Amino acid sequence: MAVARQGQAPLNHGKINRCAAGAVFDTATWVGEAAGLVVVGYGGLSAEDGKMAGVAPDDPRYSTEPADPQAYTTANDRLYTRFARLYDIVVKASPVWRRWLGHALPAIRGPRVLEVSFGTGWLLTRYAGRNRTDGIDLNPALVAVARRNLARAGLQARLRQGRVEALPYPDASFDTVVNTMAFTGYPDGAAAAAELARVLKPGGRLVLIDIGFPRDGNRLGNTLVQHLWKPFGDLVRDVPALLSEVGLDVTDDEIGGWGSVHRYLATKPAA
Ligand SMILES: C[S@@+](CC[C@H](N)C(=O)[O-])C[C@H]1O[C@@H](n2cnc3c(N)ncnc32)[C@H](O)[C@@H]1O
Repeated sequence: MAVARQGQAPLNHGKINRCAAGAVFDTATWVGEAAGLVVVGYGGLSAEDGKMAGVAPDDPRYSTEPADPQAYTTANDRLYTRFARLYDIVVKASPVWRRWLGHALPAIRGPRVLEVSFGTGWLLTRYAGRNRTDGIDLNPALVAVARRNLARAGLQARLRQGRVEALPYPDASFDTVVNTMAFTGYPDGAAAAAELARVLKPGGRLVLIDIGFPRDGNRLGNTLVQHLWKPFGDLVRDVPALLSEVGLDVTDDEIGGWGSVHRYLATKPAA
């Protein structure tokens, strides 16, 4: 916005131009965020398999865990196999998605970093060169896409296929564990949180980006969680509570989607 200094007339043209530019930018951001949310929702799109029943949460806003975790995971996994290449294109083409994931970068500290559920590996290509990096993802097609992306970037990381529920690493292995847009797709949040915490070194940090209700309860953010994410099959949980239960100290920053996209930083107390 133009600011008139004392004794000067406001610079109207500049003001108009800047306001117009601001409006275009704001509109583009809104459209981008909405498109990003649809894309992410689509990424988490899951069949209803295994979703009925299960134990209902105390707070009715949160999702019920699937009664059949394996059926839930298998249905999602089929979609990732089918759309692995499209997913890669969408992530690379979406500035909003990349901006959300980019919020993880300043919080990543080495020397040893693990990314769980790296998908197409876009984020890996942003930090693997600076750290000794491991990665694990359930879907073999996405592991292959991520390997290609790293090779094209001239970077190395030890990538493997596997499950968050049984991470093949010893206790206290990593300084940072990264997890973006994946937690709401795990059928057992408590089991996933316990594994993510187990492999952190004392003093290490989990950087988790995913969906949650906006803290101020704003209508747009709430509506997106209730009527976009959840219907797409995402399991929306009280992530800070889950991470606290496994002994981590948690901070919660809202980073987009009208408060519906969060970055949780969860530190394992030093021994
Ligand atoms: C929505 S994608 C997010 C990918 C990437 N982190 C990003 O932000 O673009 C979810 C990822 O979680 C992985 N995933 C789903 N269930 C998993 C499980 N049980 N263990 C490990 N990875 C899993 C999928 O294969 C997929 O790569």
